[in-house]
Amino acid sequence: MSPASCMCRSFAGPSGAAGSFHLRTRKSKMAKITYIEHNGTEHTIDVESGMTVMEGAIKNSIPGIDADCGGACACATCHVYVADAWKEKVGAAESMEEDMLDFAFDVRENSRLSCQIKVTDDLDGLVVNLPEKQF
Ligand code: FES
Repeated sequence: MSPASCMCRSFAGPSGAAGSFHLRTRKSKMAKITYIEHNGTEHTIDVESGMTVMEGAIKNSIPGIDADCGGACACATCHVYVADAWKEKVGAAESMEEDMLDFAFDVRENSRLSCQIKVTDDLDGLVVNLPEKQF
């Protein structure tokens, strides 16, 4: 273990016995995601694994994703189009998302709600296009 990833800690237990443990730190993994606005403006940002594509956009003030419900799959204002090359890795929408997509503007076969796309290392390089408007 390298010194940078180990933060050794010492302690005294209830009986007074001393001990120590290793507190491992782990760097958050990031995935580069490109958001392309309807006018063609591209924004490529690093999004932490475990966040959603919507959260990455909101945290980085990407215009064109409103996310009015905060990610509860209840508003369809985080609608994106997943680039063809990424559809398989991103996967298909589940039924609740499919139902909510009925309320989105200009839905296409590659439409997804970005709050339902969890960022993983596998999505490093993901490209999503934003619709002309969210509703
Ligand atoms: S943020 Fe509301 S459905 Fe995605």
